[in-house]
Amino acid sequence: MSAERLKIEAARAALKEVEDGMILGVGTGSTVNALIRELEVSGLRLEGAVSSSRETTDRLEAIGVKVLDPNHTGDLALYVDGADEVDAHRRLIKGGGGALTREKVIAAASRRFLCIVDESKCVDILGEFPLPVEVIPMARSLVSRKLTGLGGRPELRDGVTTDNGNWILDVRNLDLVDPLKMETAINQIPGVVTVGLFAQRRADEVIVAGEGGIRRLTA
Ligand code: A5P
Repeated sequence: MSAERLKIEAARAALKEVEDGMILGVGTGSTVNALIRELEVSGLRLEGAVSSSRETTDRLEAIGVKVLDPNHTGDLALYVDGADEVDAHRRLIKGGGGALTREKVIAAASRRFLCIVDESKCVDILGEFPLPVEVIPMARSLVSRKLTGLGGRPELRDGVTTDNGNWILDVRNLDLVDPLKMETAINQIPGVVTVGLFAQRRADEVIVAGEGGIRRLTA
Protein backbone atom coordinates (compact mmCIF):
# COMPACT_ATOMS: atom_id res chain seq x y z
CA MET A 1 0.00 0.00 0.00
CA SER A 2 1.36 3.47 -0.80
CA ALA A 3 2.24 5.92 1.97
CA GLU A 4 -0.54 8.17 0.69
CA ARG A 5 -3.06 5.33 1.03
CA LEU A 6 -1.90 4.64 4.60
CA LYS A 7 -2.35 8.31 5.49
CA ILE A 8 -5.93 8.11 4.23
CA GLU A 9 -6.53 5.00 6.35
CA ALA A 10 -5.17 6.74 9.46
CA ALA A 11 -7.28 9.83 8.70
CA ARG A 12 -10.43 7.75 8.29
CA ALA A 13 -9.84 6.00 11.61
CA ALA A 14 -9.43 9.36 13.34
CA LEU A 15 -12.54 10.79 11.74
CA LYS A 16 -14.63 8.14 13.49
CA GLU A 17 -13.82 9.96 16.72
CA VAL A 18 -14.95 13.35 15.47
CA GLU A 19 -18.49 14.34 16.40
CA ASP A 20 -21.03 16.69 14.87
CA GLY A 21 -20.99 20.10 16.53
CA MET A 22 -17.40 19.79 17.78
CA ILE A 23 -14.72 22.43 17.73
CA LEU A 24 -11.83 20.37 16.39
CA GLY A 25 -8.12 21.18 16.73
CA VAL A 26 -6.46 20.54 13.38
CA GLY A 27 -2.73 20.06 12.81
CA THR A 28 -0.59 20.52 9.72
CA GLY A 29 0.94 18.26 7.10
CA SER A 30 0.09 15.72 4.44
CA THR A 31 -1.63 13.31 6.85
CA VAL A 32 -3.82 16.11 8.16
CA ASN A 33 -4.52 17.16 4.58
CA ALA A 34 -5.92 13.65 4.05
CA LEU A 35 -8.06 14.16 7.18
CA ILE A 36 -9.43 17.43 5.81
CA ARG A 37 -10.28 15.79 2.48
CA GLU A 38 -12.06 12.94 4.32
CA LEU A 39 -13.85 15.45 6.54
CA GLU A 40 -15.28 17.13 3.46
CA VAL A 41 -16.91 13.94 2.19
CA SER A 42 -17.93 12.66 5.64
CA GLY A 43 -21.02 14.85 6.03
CA LEU A 44 -19.87 15.81 9.54
CA ARG A 45 -20.78 19.36 10.54
CA LEU A 46 -18.26 20.94 12.91
CA GLU A 47 -19.10 24.02 14.93
CA GLY A 48 -15.63 25.13 13.85
CA ALA A 49 -11.93 24.34 14.01
CA VAL A 50 -8.80 25.73 15.56
CA SER A 51 -6.01 25.62 13.00
CA SER A 52 -2.27 25.19 13.51
CA SER A 53 -1.11 26.93 10.31
CA ARG A 54 -2.07 29.19 7.45
CA GLU A 55 -1.99 26.21 5.14
CA THR A 56 -4.47 24.27 7.26
CA THR A 57 -6.65 27.36 7.64
CA ASP A 58 -6.84 27.74 3.86
CA ARG A 59 -7.74 24.08 3.41
CA LEU A 60 -10.39 24.16 6.15
CA GLU A 61 -11.99 27.33 4.82
CA ALA A 62 -11.99 25.87 1.30
CA ILE A 63 -14.29 23.08 2.51
CA GLY A 64 -16.52 25.45 4.45
CA VAL A 65 -15.20 24.92 7.99
CA LYS A 66 -15.19 28.03 10.15
CA VAL A 67 -11.74 28.66 11.64
CA LEU A 68 -11.93 30.02 15.18
CA ASP A 69 -9.54 32.06 17.31
CA PRO A 70 -8.26 29.83 20.16
CA ASN A 71 -8.38 32.86 22.44
CA HIS A 72 -12.14 32.52 22.29
CA THR A 73 -12.70 28.76 22.30
CA GLY A 74 -11.27 27.65 25.64
CA ASP A 75 -9.96 24.08 25.85
CA LEU A 76 -10.80 21.74 22.99
CA ALA A 77 -12.16 18.23 23.33
CA LEU A 78 -10.00 16.82 20.54
CA TYR A 79 -6.88 17.71 18.55
CA VAL A 80 -5.83 15.60 15.57
CA ASP A 81 -2.37 15.94 14.04
CA GLY A 82 0.40 13.99 12.35
CA ALA A 83 4.03 13.61 13.41
CA ASP A 84 7.48 13.16 11.92
CA GLU A 85 8.50 10.49 14.45
CA VAL A 86 6.65 8.55 17.14
CA ASP A 87 8.05 6.30 19.85
CA ALA A 88 6.29 3.54 21.76
CA HIS A 89 5.55 5.95 24.65
CA ARG A 90 3.65 8.28 22.26
CA ARG A 91 6.38 10.92 22.42
CA LEU A 92 6.83 12.75 19.15
CA ILE A 93 9.05 14.84 16.94
CA LYS A 94 6.99 17.41 15.07
CA GLY A 95 7.69 20.50 13.04
CA GLY A 96 8.83 19.09 9.70
CA GLY A 97 6.19 21.37 8.21
CA GLY A 98 7.29 24.31 10.37
CA ALA A 99 4.06 24.62 12.37
CA LEU A 100 5.44 23.30 15.67
CA THR A 101 4.66 26.29 17.88
CA ARG A 102 0.97 26.54 17.04
CA GLU A 103 0.76 22.75 17.14
CA LYS A 104 2.18 22.74 20.65
CA VAL A 105 -0.21 25.45 21.77
CA ILE A 106 -3.23 23.53 20.47
CA ALA A 107 -1.98 20.24 21.94
CA ALA A 108 -1.64 21.94 25.33
CA ALA A 109 -5.14 23.40 25.01
CA SER A 110 -6.75 20.07 24.12
CA ARG A 111 -8.12 17.46 26.47
CA ARG A 112 -7.25 14.72 23.97
CA PHE A 113 -4.44 14.68 21.41
CA LEU A 114 -4.92 12.03 18.76
CA CYS A 115 -1.89 11.56 16.52
CA ILE A 116 -2.25 9.94 13.09
CA VAL A 117 0.70 8.41 11.24
CA ASP A 118 1.66 5.78 8.73
CA GLU A 119 3.94 3.11 10.12
CA SER A 120 7.10 4.63 8.59
CA LYS A 121 6.98 7.23 11.39
CA CYS A 122 7.41 4.72 14.24
CA VAL A 123 10.88 4.51 15.82
CA ASP A 124 12.47 2.90 18.88
CA ILE A 125 14.34 6.06 19.86
CA LEU A 126 13.49 9.55 18.61
CA GLY A 127 16.12 11.53 16.73
CA GLU A 128 16.73 10.12 13.28
CA PHE A 129 14.53 12.97 11.99
CA PRO A 130 16.30 16.33 12.55
CA LEU A 131 14.73 18.08 15.53
CA PRO A 132 13.06 21.40 14.55
CA VAL A 133 13.58 24.34 16.90
CA GLU A 134 11.75 27.63 16.22
CA VAL A 135 13.86 30.66 17.19
CA ILE A 136 13.39 34.39 17.05
CA PRO A 137 15.71 35.62 14.27
CA MET A 138 18.06 37.74 16.44
CA ALA A 139 18.79 34.71 18.65
CA ARG A 140 19.71 32.31 15.83
CA SER A 141 23.45 32.37 16.49
CA LEU A 142 23.20 32.13 20.29
CA VAL A 143 20.69 29.28 20.12
CA SER A 144 22.87 27.47 17.56
CA ARG A 145 25.87 27.67 19.89
CA LYS A 146 23.86 26.41 22.86
CA LEU A 147 22.43 23.53 20.79
CA THR A 148 25.97 22.64 19.72
CA GLY A 149 26.88 22.65 23.41
CA LEU A 150 24.12 20.09 23.98
CA GLY A 151 25.78 17.85 21.37
CA GLY A 152 23.65 18.86 18.39
CA ARG A 153 24.45 19.93 14.84
CA PRO A 154 21.98 22.74 14.06
CA GLU A 155 21.30 23.95 10.54
CA LEU A 156 19.14 26.90 9.57
CA ARG A 157 16.16 25.83 7.44
CA ASP A 158 16.98 27.83 4.37
CA GLY A 159 14.47 30.41 3.17
CA VAL A 160 11.79 29.45 5.70
CA THR A 161 9.97 31.95 7.89
CA THR A 162 7.28 30.48 10.13
CA ASP A 163 3.70 31.74 10.37
CA ASN A 164 4.91 33.54 13.52
CA GLY A 165 7.69 35.40 11.68
CA ASN A 166 10.50 33.27 13.12
CA TRP A 167 13.20 30.91 11.81
CA ILE A 168 13.75 27.19 12.23
CA LEU A 169 16.93 25.34 13.16
CA ASP A 170 16.92 21.64 12.25
CA VAL A 171 19.14 19.84 14.73
CA ARG A 172 20.87 16.52 14.07
CA ASN A 173 22.91 14.34 16.37
CA LEU A 174 21.15 15.12 19.69
CA ASP A 175 20.87 12.30 22.19
CA LEU A 176 17.10 11.93 22.66
CA VAL A 177 17.10 8.82 24.85
CA ASP A 178 15.42 11.03 27.48
CA PRO A 179 13.18 13.29 25.33
CA LEU A 180 11.58 15.05 28.31
CA LYS A 181 14.99 16.09 29.65
CA MET A 182 16.09 17.41 26.24
CA GLU A 183 12.77 19.21 25.70
CA THR A 184 13.21 20.95 29.05
CA ALA A 185 16.87 21.84 28.34
CA ILE A 186 16.15 23.33 24.91
CA ASN A 187 13.15 25.26 26.20
CA GLN A 188 15.49 27.01 28.69
CA ILE A 189 17.60 28.63 25.94
CA PRO A 190 16.72 32.32 25.53
CA GLY A 191 15.37 32.98 22.06
CA VAL A 192 13.85 29.53 21.62
CA VAL A 193 10.15 29.81 20.89
CA THR A 194 9.43 26.08 20.75
CA VAL A 195 11.24 22.81 20.31
CA GLY A 196 9.47 20.16 18.23
CA LEU A 197 9.76 17.52 20.93
CA PHE A 198 6.35 16.56 22.26
CA ALA A 199 7.28 14.62 25.41
CA GLN A 200 5.85 16.80 28.18
CA ARG A 201 2.54 16.97 26.31
CA ARG A 202 2.74 13.74 24.30
CA ALA A 203 -0.09 12.23 22.29
CA ASP A 204 -2.86 10.55 24.26
CA GLU A 205 -3.33 8.06 21.48
CA VAL A 206 -1.54 7.30 18.22
CA ILE A 207 -3.32 5.70 15.27
CA VAL A 208 -0.75 3.87 13.16
CA ALA A 209 -1.77 2.76 9.68
CA GLY A 210 0.30 -0.10 8.30
CA GLU A 211 0.19 -2.94 5.81
CA GLY A 212 -1.46 -5.10 8.48
CA GLY A 213 -4.21 -2.56 9.18
CA ILE A 214 -4.72 -0.03 11.95
CA ARG A 215 -3.08 -0.35 15.35
CA ARG A 216 -3.34 2.02 18.29
CA LEU A 217 -0.80 3.14 20.86
CA THR A 218 -2.66 4.02 24.04
CA ALA A 219 -1.95 4.39 27.73
C1 A5P B 1 4.05 20.13 10.85
O1 A5P B 1 4.79 21.15 11.39
C2 A5P B 1 4.45 18.83 11.43
O2 A5P B 1 4.51 18.78 12.79
C3 A5P B 1 3.61 17.70 10.89
O3 A5P B 1 2.66 17.27 11.81
C4 A5P B 1 4.50 16.60 10.58
O4 A5P B 1 5.56 17.12 9.81
C5 A5P B 1 3.80 15.46 9.85
O5 A5P B 1 3.61 15.79 8.52
P1 A5P B 1 3.17 14.71 7.46
O6 A5P B 1 1.81 14.26 7.83
O7 A5P B 1 3.21 15.46 6.15
O8 A5P B 1 4.19 13.62 7.49
